[in-house]
Amino acid sequence: MSHHSENVNDQTDLLKYQTLFELSGNIIYFSNLDGTINSINQAGLELFGFQKEEEIIGKSIIDYYLNKQDRIYFEDHIKQNGSIHDFELILEINNEKKIVLESAVAIKDQSGKLVEIGSIIKNITEHINDKKVVLDMTVELSEAYEKMKELQSQLVNKEKMAGIGQLAAGVAHEINNPLGFIKSNHETLKKYIAEFFQYQKILESFINKLSKNQSPILQQAITKIIQYQTDHQISFINHDTEELLSEDQEGFERIITIIDNLKSFSRINSNREIEQKNFNQLIDTTLIVARNEYKYCAEIEKELGNLPQIEIVVGEINQVLLNIIVNAAQAINSQCEKERGVIKILTYAEKDHVICQIIDNGPGIEPDQLGQIFNPFFTTKEEGKGTGLGLNISYDIIVNKHKGELLVDSQLGKGTTFTIKIPIKYLGDENGD
Ligand SMILES: Nc1ncnc2c1ncn2[C@@H]1O[C@H](COP(=O)(O)OP(=O)(O)OP(=O)(O)O)[C@@H](O)[C@H]1O
Ligand SMILES: [Mg+2]
Repeated sequence: MSHHSENVNDQTDLLKYQTLFELSGNIIYFSNLDGTINSINQAGLELFGFQKEEEIIGKSIIDYYLNKQDRIYFEDHIKQNGSIHDFELILEINNEKKIVLESAVAIKDQSGKLVEIGSIIKNITEHINDKKVVLDMTVELSEAYEKMKELQSQLVNKEKMAGIGQLAAGVAHEINNPLGFIKSNHETLKKYIAEFFQYQKILESFINKLSKNQSPILQQAITKIIQYQTDHQISFINHDTEELLSEDQEGFERIITIIDNLKSFSRINSNREIEQKNFNQLIDTTLIVARNEYKYCAEIEKELGNLPQIEIVVGEINQVLLNIIVNAAQAINSQCEKERGVIKILTYAEKDHVICQIIDNGPGIEPDQLGQIFNPFFTTKEEGKGTGLGLNISYDIIVNKHKGELLVDSQLGKGTTFTIKIPIKYLGDENGD
């Protein structure tokens, strides 16, 4: 650039501007309207990869535009407004993309004709890349956090359920042993009693025959025997023994199912085996496991309807029932001093669903907490007592794994109702996750 100067002041001003031009970290250049570069500062040479100003002068800036269309807007804007501020642009220099902001002013002659454009370009490529790195890192971090939370909840879940599973399996095992010999003794007893009945019949027919005999001694003995039979209700005993034996049989069957179900608690984290079950059966099993939680403060009322068999992963549904019944018991326990509470368990069938409602008359849930109870780690229980996972796990099992519904309804001071709705046919993913 060559400029004339009239006085010392102009001279120092010029020096100032020249210094600024040369030393600026931003690119400063002058060009014609068609983009031909007339002069450029050191930062500009560096950006475009040149050593000397002569090498770039005469070249068009538009050659470096990644998108040539941008220039149309740029020119129009300058023509109309005389300047442009922070125009975002991508330049491609030696196969590298640079994101820049360009501010420019129109330089006009005395007649007002646009003769040159003076521009300042700020290279923000690195700035954006840095930001992007931080952004990526933030995204990665929050993803990792979510994963960790999920993992933690699975871990706690596994631990917790392994605990309950072991307990249940232990109890099942303990019961299984004595049950084994009681049942086998019962079978033997049944055979013995059948023998006795047979023997009794022989005796009776013998007595019948003898009663025709006229011997007074025999007659006396027979009268005594008949007297004994009436006094001790022998024929009633005979009849009732058969009934008692068949009732026992039924009792054994029931204990065996309960034990089977108890064992299923310990299978929770292994294979997800889908089984045909009557939902009402699970309730009885779960009540046995949960008994310690409710026995002091609550009565259980059952209203179990006629249900079709449903396809479920038994261990998982047991877990849901247990979580909800234990929650109800704990809620009632929290106000135990006042009165014993009631946990009502209701089941009924709809067209494609089996429905179970667990209704307690505990303290209820604060309306502003109702939306949070299914969140992982949400608990109002004292430290060490609740993990806040029970309902989260239950929701996952019912809604995600069994494609059912888990609903809550609560009134402060009145109580809480949980509704479990399970499709009769298994619709969930075989893997469950
Ligand atoms: N029947 C209920 N009555 C009142 N509040 C309930 C009831 N069921 C659940 N809640 C509330 O929901 C919260 C979350 O329940 P959730 O079962 O998920 O966790 P928790 O019982 O606190 O802990 P965890 O089950 O892991 O031992 C409870 O802390 C409690 O505040
Ligand atoms: Mg709970």
